Parts: sequence; structure tokens; C-alpha cells
Amino acid sequence: MTNLSDDELVELERLAVESAQEAAQLVRRRPDDFGVEVKSSRTDVVTVVDAASERLLVERIRAIRPQDGFYGEEEVDASATSPLTWVLDPIDGTVNFLYDYPMYAVSVAVVEGDPRLPGAWRPVAAAVADVPAGTVYHARRGGGAYLLQGGHDDKLSVTRSSDIGTSLIATGFGYDAEKRGRQARVLMHVLPQIRDIRRGGSAALDLCHVAQGRLDGYYEMGINPWDMAAGWLVLTEAGGLASGAHGAPPSSECVVAAGKMLHPVLVDLVEEGLKHF
Ligand code: IPD
Ligand code: CA
Repeated sequence: MTNLSDDELVELERLAVESAQEAAQLVRRRPDDFGVEVKSSRTDVVTVVDAASERLLVERIRAIRPQDGFYGEEEVDASATSPLTWVLDPIDGTVNFLYDYPMYAVSVAVVEGDPRLPGAWRPVAAAVADVPAGTVYHARRGGGAYLLQGGHDDKLSVTRSSDIGTSLIATGFGYDAEKRGRQARVLMHVLPQIRDIRRGGSAALDLCHVAQGRLDGYYEMGINPWDMAAGWLVLTEAGGLASGAHGAPPSSECVVAAGKMLHPVLVDLVEEGLKHF
């Protein structure tokens, strides 16, 4: 674990919040032409705003921390001389952004370790700016998790739910049709055993909503480090747990997040479901 003082962590958290807020302002000015291009499949899109938001984040952060690395959804720069890397999702929920469905965010996390290696990294400070809501979820290691709204910080905490049958759980799906079919089979196992399912369309906000108690839990197979880095810290600093399946750390393979009491039960349920994946 990198030896960062609380003052350093406070500075990193402030930079995460301020840069996420600035990028959110840019994303909020919806252009007439989104310049949509496709990525991994016909349904996986990127817009000119994703690229502009990531550029703003990298320029803003690099001006203050030129020694750190960057690992973003649209760009990778591994030429760091410090042990810290900024893991960026310039718009999480790009499809929602395209449709103006109000659930998309700018996700900024600074992590120690190599974010390209599953289990080899941890976030130390983070911010998730909910663009349509104009709010920012943020956290630093050991400092608690907060929602910044109208100039005020409210402390976040997860629900105390332990009963899976009355739990509201979110999940998400990838862009690959074959993989979606397998994710649907896991869902078929999970859905009859919970209160209900939500598919918001932004993994970063799903994790923050668990931190906030708007959801009891969240699981997904196939998200990327930039989808989860900031929300993961907000969740754990709000008293929640995040893991993978079968004792693994959270990774692109699987993320299961919930309050401490529900987490082991949700992990069991997802592991059962994964037999159909
Ligand atoms: C996606 C969102 C979505 C999740 C997908 C992600 P993007 O990110 O987080 O909720 O289900 O797995 O790829 O493409 O909107 O940045
Ligand atoms: Ca994303």
C-alpha cells in the first residue's frame, strides 16, 4: 500500500471532485452532432463528447500531477513515474447520454497498483459526477463517502439489509450479443429470488447508489476498471463490500457489491447463477 498522508489524500480527492465537475459541465452542454462512432459492436458507441471529456480530465489533472499515469476508456498512457494512476471514464452510461436518459456520469479515480491487472490495484481517492443531477459522489481512503449537492456534503451509508428476498439489486449487460445471452441466464436465476432488478445503464452510478442506500446491491460480469474504480471506493467508504465470485477481488470478470450483511448472500446467489453463464 502506498504511504499517502491524509493531507495528500485530501488533495487527490479534491482534484478528482473538481476535474469530474468540470468534465460534467462539458458533458451537460449536449452538442447538436454527437459524432457517434461504433466500438466493439453496433450497440457500443462513443461520441465526440466522450473524447472531449477525457481530454479535459487528462489535461486538468496532468497540469497538477505530471508524474502520474492515466488509464482511460478512450486513451491509455502508462508513462508514469509515480505509483499512482488516474482511471477515467469520461462518460459512464454513454447510451443513456445519447438518449438523454438521465443516468450518466463522469467517473474519476486515482489508484495505486496496475489497473490493467485484475486484483493488483486499489482506488485511493475518487469522484463520480452524476451529470443530469448536478451532484458528485466522492471518497478518499479512510475518509468516508459523501454526496456533494448544492454546496453541502451528506455522508453516505449502505443499507442494513440482510434479506435477499426483499433486496433491490441492480445489474448491467455488455455490448456483445452472445455474452448478453449468458448474462440473461444468470439473471433468470437471480430474479425470482430478490425483490426486483434495476438496469440503470451506468455501473459507476450503480455502485454509488448502493453506497447511498438507493439500492441494496449490484452485480455485473464484464465491466472495465474505469467503470468500477471510483464507485468501488465510494461503496467501501460507505460501509459496503465489493468482491468478485469465489473469493476473487472485484474485476472485469465479476463484481458483486452490497452492504456487509447482504454481501455474502448476494455472492452465493450470483455464484449459483454463474453456473448457467
Ligand atoms: C457501460 C455502463 C453499463 C454497463 C456496461 C458498461 P459505458 O459503460 O457502465 O451500465 O452495464 O457494462 O460498459 O459503455 O456506458 O461507458
Ligand atoms: Ca463505462
